[in-house]
Amino acid sequence: MKAQKQHWENVYQTKNFENVSWFQPIPEISIRFFEEINLSKNAKIIDVGAGESHFVDYLLENGYTNLTLVDISENALTKTRKRLGKSGKTIEYIVADVGSFVPNQQYDFWHDRATFHFLTEQNQIEHYTQNLQNFLRPNGYFLIGTFTEDGPTKCSGLDVKQYSETTLSELLSRFLHKIKCLNFEHLTPFDTVQKFIFCHFQLRELNF
Ligand SMILES: C[S@@+](CC[C@H](N)C(=O)[O-])C[C@H]1O[C@@H](n2cnc3c(N)ncnc32)[C@H](O)[C@@H]1O
Repeated sequence: MKAQKQHWENVYQTKNFENVSWFQPIPEISIRFFEEINLSKNAKIIDVGAGESHFVDYLLENGYTNLTLVDISENALTKTRKRLGKSGKTIEYIVADVGSFVPNQQYDFWHDRATFHFLTEQNQIEHYTQNLQNFLRPNGYFLIGTFTEDGPTKCSGLDVKQYSETTLSELLSRFLHKIKCLNFEHLTPFDTVQKFIFCHFQLRELNF
């Protein structure tokens, strides 16, 4: 098993949801951005590096059922599947590394809180961004929450990359346009602050 996968399997085997630095009982910023775009209930939604996030709970409670959760850790998705029980029966769970995974369909909304920044190799980043280009539906949205340039340099003991509104926009500008970004200070369960930036992008219309 690759070291990265082993790391995350171990995290989810040994730590409780409430005791990891990225814990948030309600993913309030993701919800706020999501509500602004008013997607129909049959929208296809993917959460990558979903872990045990409760964003999926919000989506289910609000009538969204076309949901895909991806994580490198099988333990993480097993915990989420058990927690959701019957209410999560329509969800597709995919154990995969987002630096190499190829989706099997297109999505209207692609959510990533605190996963993209773990991709530190250029080829992984290129693969991920190419997936956005290929697997977002026309007018599809990408919502990302990631560490800022003055945010943490490590998370869960692993190196991360840091981003700003400018670097994210430059990285994605070939095919996505920025709707808006918001800086957010996440308070961890250990009373430390992690500086995040959340940015919402939409697939550009193609001009033939
Ligand atoms: C900091 S946690 C955030 C979890 C969740 N998004 C949230 O907001 O609570 C990062 C998550 O990304 C997953 N992850 C890390 N690297 C990954 C990769 N290369 N591919 C897929 N998932 C990955 C981890 O297993 C973990 O669940």
